[in-house]
Amino acid sequence: MGTTAEDRAIIRKILEHNEQDSTDMLPETMSNPVSNYTDPDQLQQEIDVLFRNFPLVVAHTSELANVGDFITHDDTGVPLLVNRSAEGQLKAFLNVCRHRGARVEGEPCGNARRFTCPYHAWSYDLDGELRGMPQPVGFDTVDREDFGLVELPVFERFGLVWVVPSPQDKPIDIDAWLAPLHEQFDGLDLANHVIFEKWALHKDMSWRLALEGFQESYHFCSAHRDTACSNYLDNQSVWSSYQPHMRHSVPLPQVLKLRDQPEDEWDYRPNFMTQNFVFPANFVQSMTDHVYVHTILPTGQGTCAFHCMMLVPKGTEVDKAKYWRANYDVVRTVFDEDFAIGEGIQKGFEAGANEFFTFGKYEVGLHHSQKAINDALAGKIVV
Ligand code: FES
Ligand SMILES: [Fe+2]
Repeated sequence: MGTTAEDRAIIRKILEHNEQDSTDMLPETMSNPVSNYTDPDQLQQEIDVLFRNFPLVVAHTSELANVGDFITHDDTGVPLLVNRSAEGQLKAFLNVCRHRGARVEGEPCGNARRFTCPYHAWSYDLDGELRGMPQPVGFDTVDREDFGLVELPVFERFGLVWVVPSPQDKPIDIDAWLAPLHEQFDGLDLANHVIFEKWALHKDMSWRLALEGFQESYHFCSAHRDTACSNYLDNQSVWSSYQPHMRHSVPLPQVLKLRDQPEDEWDYRPNFMTQNFVFPANFVQSMTDHVYVHTILPTGQGTCAFHCMMLVPKGTEVDKAKYWRANYDVVRTVFDEDFAIGEGIQKGFEAGANEFFTFGKYEVGLHHSQKAINDALAGKIVV
């Protein structure tokens, strides 16, 4: 992956901050009302807007490589069925039978030519069309064309599968939506990666708390004292706003050696962990040689799901398995440290100690995502 002009500007900033003993900061701190995390009406609005109208990552493209490959997914709040059709296109549907609403496909993944509802065996093809029903004489008034599975927008971009979990009445321009991240994601070449590990966790914490764990590095040397702390320069993140998305570049200590190299020889990737936030709740977190893709989803009041996959370059998964496993073990530990803190915060909400949380000037990602959420709820951000 080549080093871009933006990458170089980020490195320059890091070196400047290091010389001046400073870090990336906003002019003001911010008070965020705790009700943003606890109010049931607020959560319902977030679900209705953020988690129904914006693209969420649900799979890696390798999971749907062949015609008939499918996955189901339940944690967006609507049951999803995604498959590759006979023409090779991805299709996404509500996994809900059009007869009387049963869940059509029960398996988490597989390969199928048709999906047959377990209740009365209505069957649908890979395009979601209703193809068969036992004893059709009882439904001779039904026009099958009107009883296909409900289709959802789905996109295959940068090796990832993105679904908007509700039917939309206008087309979605996914390329415009992801444009600010295009250069970076293109460089990661995720279509030529494989899933080394994929996991989902259900946590007793607001989705907002889980999100915030990935949006500042101020906590690294306290919450991750024995894990992530020593791997990075302390609280030296650089932020690139692509409103409503955000790039969060976290430098490794060795980046400081670049000071002695000409700029055109600088190499960004070996010197950074980069957390790319793709609104509303997707992260593409690139490490020096592999990538974590995660999505955080509200599953109720004070609960959320965390879906994550570790992607490694195709062809390295066997030879470097031991090395990848060691990386995975560290990251699982680091993420678990974040979630333990988040679940603790959630428990504390009931005590009422805080009316608002204070975001520091260098906790830039927190300011950013709160603003983006407010803007989206106010209808100012649309895909
Ligand atoms: S509910 Fe699916 S066939 Fe009846
Ligand atoms: Fe963390």
